[in-house]
Amino acid sequence: MIYLNGQFMPLEKAKIPVLDRGFIFGDGVYEVVPVYRRQAFRLTPHLRRLQHSLDSIKLNNPYSEREWTVLIKDLIALQPFTNQAVYLQITRGVAKRNHAFPKNVKPTVFMMSNPLATPSVEQIKKGVAAITAEDFRWHRCDIKSTSLLGNVLLRQLSAEEGAMETILFRDGYLSEASASNVFIVKKDAIATPPKGTLILPGITLDAVVDLLKDDELPLEIREIKEKEVREADEIWLSSSTKEVLAVTTLDGKPVGTGKPGPLFKRAHALYQTAKVRTIRQTS
Ligand code: PDD
Repeated sequence: MIYLNGQFMPLEKAKIPVLDRGFIFGDGVYEVVPVYRRQAFRLTPHLRRLQHSLDSIKLNNPYSEREWTVLIKDLIALQPFTNQAVYLQITRGVAKRNHAFPKNVKPTVFMMSNPLATPSVEQIKKGVAAITAEDFRWHRCDIKSTSLLGNVLLRQLSAEEGAMETILFRDGYLSEASASNVFIVKKDAIATPPKGTLILPGITLDAVVDLLKDDELPLEIREIKEKEVREADEIWLSSSTKEVLAVTTLDGKPVGTGKPGPLFKRAHALYQTAKVRTIRQTS
């Protein structure tokens, strides 16, 4: 079952008009919330980031945080599987094609929940491959917009190489990856780029940063040069669906020893514990 404009219905029944601005312009924003044993993980930060995205595109939030929470809970309860990825999308609605915002148009609200596909045991144990590319996206990557053509084209580069991600550099500095944030490790110091308008402020990134700080691990939030990424002992990806995942080859060359490193193992263990803790607290 999915949710569309106030109603839960089977996916096959869901229809939107072809003039929806999400379809015509990619004029919309979205979120992906991981759900473990029917408990949404870090829902409040996801809803806050949604508000930031909506504010940035000047679209009113159709629901309060409370209303979203209830709708998401209801959607989760309607699925036959327990670990889920809730996808929600709001577009500027249906209107005659004109770039300027239409007046008095209701936004389109769509939600679905799919089985959560977290990395396999093998991917966690061995790590994954990534390639690199120049980050040619726009300058508002902090908006979680459905206009994802840049990300799609960049991700396709790695898909064609049989790799899991495309790590991006803008003007010689690490930004993020096509659908994940990036951490590096060099000589026991962990680093990740600062937030700004050139990367998505990842909810998983924040979770990992909090866990590393609580564990008193050395963490630097700073600009990272391309060279540092290429010479890193470890590289990690973070996202709601990938959780924390080690990159063990970059552009076909081994990262560090070519195996997930000790700090990755620590971060991964901390993340798994945090998940279990949340499930216990909220159930
Ligand atoms: N992608 N950067 C980009 C460009 C992303 O698309 C994502 C997430 C992230 C990580 O954010 P978070 O930790 O909040 O998931 C970083 C989602 C999962 C997607 O589009 O499917």
